[in-house]
Amino acid sequence: MARYAHIIGWGKAIPRRVMTNDDWAKLVDTSDEWIRSRTGVRERHFVSDGESTLTLALEAARNALEVARLSPAYLDLIIVATVTPEYHFPATACLVQDRLGANRAAAFDLSAGCSGFIYGLSLASDAIRAGSYQYALVIGAETLSRIMDWQDRTTCVLFGDGAGAVVLAASQVPGGVMSYMLGADGSGGDYLIMPGGGSRHPTTRETVEQRMHYIKMNGREVFKFATRTMDRATRLVCERANVPLQDVELVVPHQANDRIIQAAAKSLGLSDDIFYVNLDRYGNTSAASIPIALCEVLEKGLVRRHDHVVLVGFGAGLTWGASLIQWETPFPATTLKWWQRLYNAIYYRWAQLRSWLARLRRRVEGWQTPENGNGSPPRKTLSAPHREEKGASSDHPETREGRAKHAEEVSPTTGGHTASSEETVAQPRDADHPEHRTGP
Ligand code: ACO
Repeated sequence: MARYAHIIGWGKAIPRRVMTNDDWAKLVDTSDEWIRSRTGVRERHFVSDGESTLTLALEAARNALEVARLSPAYLDLIIVATVTPEYHFPATACLVQDRLGANRAAAFDLSAGCSGFIYGLSLASDAIRAGSYQYALVIGAETLSRIMDWQDRTTCVLFGDGAGAVVLAASQVPGGVMSYMLGADGSGGDYLIMPGGGSRHPTTRETVEQRMHYIKMNGREVFKFATRTMDRATRLVCERANVPLQDVELVVPHQANDRIIQAAAKSLGLSDDIFYVNLDRYGNTSAASIPIALCEVLEKGLVRRHDHVVLVGFGAGLTWGASLIQWETPFPATTLKWWQRLYNAIYYRWAQLRSWLARLRRRVEGWQTPENGNGSPPRKTLSAPHREEKGASSDHPETREGRAKHAEEVSPTTGGHTASSEETVAQPRDADHPEHRTGP
């Protein structure tokens, strides 16, 4: 039986702190007039101390789950699209998974610049349609204020912080994510890059002094690339979904520059009016821009049942992508009841407590390794070369032979740790999955 992937929940998180064009004019050589006429941006929001990509992603995710009326316990997959992760690793998605208490979900981050959300949405909807998963959470979250050069007027005035999220669910009702296209051209990678901090240029005093840990952009080249790809990507997803361009009721484009959006509308022969624009209030929030805009059009009631909505974006990589959604999801009639809110609050507290207990358990287990099974703090071990000098034993867990032997000892029936992780993967997910929500 055919399966479809529908968006059943949506949410966003916008930091409180507002930075207007006039505020920027006090810091760099620019003006409200230049920024508005060249980009369309009037103001943007930046995170404050204590806020980060994780806090924004988490807030957007909780709001989306609330709209979906879905407990995080039912999520099978979490994808966070971002170029400003909480850390290089672990993935921000894993931190979201832990904070939400989404115990059964796989989680990973995805780096595809401003196209990241469309990449994530496409992968998640494919996994749902293939029958691998029932529920997925896709988040676009960014804190670009943390990686932009506050002295470079050619980039700093463009960006903002924020997050948007959607919950996808499997359903047999035709509709939902009907088609997508994804593209990449790494030959243009230099046009939008943060050169420092990776394996090519690890962080050193020089990389910091040369300001290599900030966004570098060739605006003109990105502009040209963007106007070309928005047109092609939109046409292609319509063709793939067998939907004439004229039947598209709404386009939610990446919010980078008003002039790029207008150029795309013109070359597609579509009215400006069906292109949703909110970049005047948020600036370019990269992977968060499309889900934030999608969330707003849904909150404002600009989408009706059976509408065709195109999401289209481009960004660092260079990457681009589009997705056509046939909207069949019923809109939630009311806000949550007080007891539902209370349940959610308790659930998230419980998730926090469980996470803390897991950390504690790991710490205690760390004291009880086979090396020091007496429960005392870990002994100081000799370094590997030194051990060899002394005659390394093949029983030692750090040698290859020792590891194999140890695995057998730990679990003779399953063949050790490898088998136990296979067991987890092989669990039949749908069979034990109560239909908490039957989908649209
Ligand atoms: N204030 C005043 N003057 C400025 C500013 C500023 N903030 N920034 C640049 N200028 C000046 C330049 O120095 C230049 O002066 P010059 O002619 O004396 O050299 C002049 O304005 C024109 O500069 P351009 O770069 O040609 O300006 P342009 O009209 O191309 O606009 C812009 C620049 C807004 C960056 C545009 O090229 C653009 O939007 N590009 C696309 C960016 C984008 O979409 N990025 C998306 C991906 S982000 C991601 O993936 C993380």
